[in-house]
Amino acid sequence: ESLGGKMSLLQRRWFGQATETYTLAGDAPYAAIAEAANAEFNRVTPENTMKWETIEPQQGVFDFTLGDALVEWAQANGQAVRGHTLVWHSQLPAWVSNPTVPWTPATLKPVLENHIRTIVRHYKGKVDMWDVVNEMFNDDGTFRQTVFYNTFGTDFVGWALTWAHEEDPDALLFINDYNFEYVSPKVNAAATFFQGLIDQGFPLGAVGAQAHLIVGQVDQTGITAGLSTFADLGLLVYLTEVDIRYQIGRGNDIANYTSSQIGQEAKDYYELTNACLAVDNCLGMTVWEYTDKYSWIPGVFAGAGAALPWDVRLNKKPAYTAILEAI
Ligand code: XIL
Repeated sequence: ESLGGKMSLLQRRWFGQATETYTLAGDAPYAAIAEAANAEFNRVTPENTMKWETIEPQQGVFDFTLGDALVEWAQANGQAVRGHTLVWHSQLPAWVSNPTVPWTPATLKPVLENHIRTIVRHYKGKVDMWDVVNEMFNDDGTFRQTVFYNTFGTDFVGWALTWAHEEDPDALLFINDYNFEYVSPKVNAAATFFQGLIDQGFPLGAVGAQAHLIVGQVDQTGITAGLSTFADLGLLVYLTEVDIRYQIGRGNDIANYTSSQIGQEAKDYYELTNACLAVDNCLGMTVWEYTDKYSWIPGVFAGAGAALPWDVRLNKKPAYTAILEAI
């Protein structure tokens, strides 16, 4: 029994992981769990290396080295690839985020078009899902002020989807965000905006809910309702960056938590998995790294951690068993 194995055989859905080949290369026990033989994962997302600062560090100069390495690893290990991410305000190179001459629509549009077309063309047939736009909304449902929004308004969203679709008509195109799990002003505003894109014929296929969640604050019914807001538009949905962190100052090692706290995380993973399974249009879920050892959480949320199904010693936690039971 394995997460990816059960998810594909019983549910015909995805159970993915985020990783990078440089992480795999430096840690053989970690790589052994990540790879094909264990069948825990049937899909993989590059955690960082397809982001703009890495893949186009200078204007028109593309570096696919690390992205290609992960795609080759995925192919060798029977794992499909989610591309992450084409348009995002974060992890941009300075030449985009802080240009010497301020961007105008006329100067930035060809840059964005070349970025999207070159990457999607390069990975055509190898990356079957793309996070085309990431984190474009504020929590109150307004549009985030980014270099793209400030230059183009919302027009860049339809363009980005169109350019990506023209380069690879078979790729499923996503708009991805956090706090997309529960019905909220953000989710309602996004759904209205997505309906507009659909009405205008733009090739939006799916919504990614990152699902960076907090232990004790996971509710299956609420998440099913949130995902259904998007599914009801005819869009597919996916839990793209799952982790469920403790926010009680006990850090990243599950050994520092009580058994009832550990049980709560397991229950939360069980409910989250079931929330996806309850929505016909939910394609699956991807954990943002499978182990606490490589989680981004402790570096960003002080005192928080222990957010993943495997602990810092690469041992399976009760959260792992809970997901397996849910599937
Ligand atoms: C994170 C990575 O995990 C970190 O290694 C990196 O330093 C910062 O980005 N939302 C996203 C992801 O869409 O790309 C982010 O990944 C986590 C939040």
